[in-house]
Amino acid sequence: MSSFLIAPSILSADFARLGEDTAKVLAAGADVVHFDVMDNHYVPNLTFGPMVCKSLRDYGITAPIDVHLMVKPVDSLVPAFAEAGASIITFHPEASEHIDRTLQLIKESGCKAGLVFNPATSLHYLDHVMDKLDVILLMSVNPGFGGQSFIPSTLDKLRQVKQRIVDSGYDIRLEVDGGVKVDNIAEVAAAGADMFVAGSAIFSQPDYKAVIDKMRAELAT
Ligand code: DX5
Ligand code: ZN
Repeated sequence: MSSFLIAPSILSADFARLGEDTAKVLAAGADVVHFDVMDNHYVPNLTFGPMVCKSLRDYGITAPIDVHLMVKPVDSLVPAFAEAGASIITFHPEASEHIDRTLQLIKESGCKAGLVFNPATSLHYLDHVMDKLDVILLMSVNPGFGGQSFIPSTLDKLRQVKQRIVDSGYDIRLEVDGGVKVDNIAEVAAAGADMFVAGSAIFSQPDYKAVIDKMRAELAT
């Protein structure tokens, strides 16, 4: 898998005009909508749920929606998000009592499945589930808020995970989330990532296309 995917996090979009702002960032060249679900329990912040995901579909958003579940428990939200139009569902393994069951639930619901690793979460959770993963998401900040700085040790972790993916022989996306910007995206790609979440870097600027074009130019170097 060689193509790079840019996934704006709509956590940083204008919530009062969410459909319009999401359509605008896709028209600017984004590939995937990154949808951050926070529950004020697993993480100390609260965002949106399946009804908002369905509203985006009803508004006419057809791009893949990448649902990042920062919630505990996980399982009850999986069918709800699948019915609401999610394309990919990722969750934090330590938030699920039965990781294999949750992955199966996501697959059975027709979505792509992935595990998310916080900066200090051990990669041992990958040991017995590589065959069930479509995505591995490495957090490069602690989850809960947009606009934080990229944690440099993520680069080494990315290289380790990239090697595990290559060794496994499976077709698994390596996604990175947190503090990704024009000036570090090339370094993040060089460490092995092929899917890039960016919230504040895109939505803080008036011209989304200019930012996304610059990111793609960096990825092409
Ligand atoms: C953080 C979220 C991220 C966040 C990224 O918990 O998972 O997706 O929106 O925002 P930036 O790109 O601003 O770090
Ligand atoms: Zn996220």
